[in-house]
Amino acid sequence: LARGAAEPDLAGRHVVVSAGGTREPLDPVRFLGNRSSGKQGYALARTAAARGARVTLIAANTALPDPAGVDVVPAGTAVQLREAVLKAAADADAVVMAAAVADFRPAAYATGKIKKKDDQEPEPIVLVRNPDILAEISADRARPGQVIVGFAAETDDVLAHGRAKLVRKGCDLLVVNEVGEHRTFGAEENEAVVLAADGGETPVPHGPKEALAEIVWDLVAARLH
Ligand code: CTP
Ligand code: CA
Repeated sequence: LARGAAEPDLAGRHVVVSAGGTREPLDPVRFLGNRSSGKQGYALARTAAARGARVTLIAANTALPDPAGVDVVPAGTAVQLREAVLKAAADADAVVMAAAVADFRPAAYATGKIKKKDDQEPEPIVLVRNPDILAEISADRARPGQVIVGFAAETDDVLAHGRAKLVRKGCDLLVVNEVGEHRTFGAEENEAVVLAADGGETPVPHGPKEALAEIVWDLVAARLH
């Protein structure tokens, strides 16, 4: 095929991509959040659509235009993201968890704005764990043969952490990024290694997030056939 013309190797497939970062509310005006822009997830959604897939994009607090021809489902918190992913994954051939899901949420939500009080130190914020969506959908697959992909941003011993995480999560593929102060979050480009449960390791050279997305779909498509 000519350059730019994607091969429709995902035609007839339903793929689910989560993108962005969850926000865990403390009160009506405040939340705990993270720096995920959603760009990698949106690149995955666009490239899957170009390869013929029906795409459900579960978008957590992103500020990006809806990709053409993609079904976009908003989700704010980790709990809401879990609901949306489980629903969409029921008939999906593949699920890619590119969203940065908060590990913890405030134990309590104040229905009124938290006010400071004179001569008083602030109350500590007590956190509780959020559900691990990737581990859950991997352990309890909605369909036999469903391909599940996770993302991991690691520092230090990146590959060792990635390999351990792949096993812990039980997914088929794990895209491991090395993060640093000016790397990955909000950036236009990415560099990664895709680890496979069968032992495979696919290095992805530094390049646009679309290029990484295409490699992810290549690896997914190979597992669907
Ligand atoms: N993930 C998820 N649900 C969570 C946390 C993470 O589904 N509650 C998914 C992310 O979308 C990502 C993958 O799991 O695809 C790895 O996320 P990461 O934060 O690297 O994994 P954790 O198990 O939370 O490990 P860490 O303690 O390093 O944050
Ligand atoms: Ca985490």
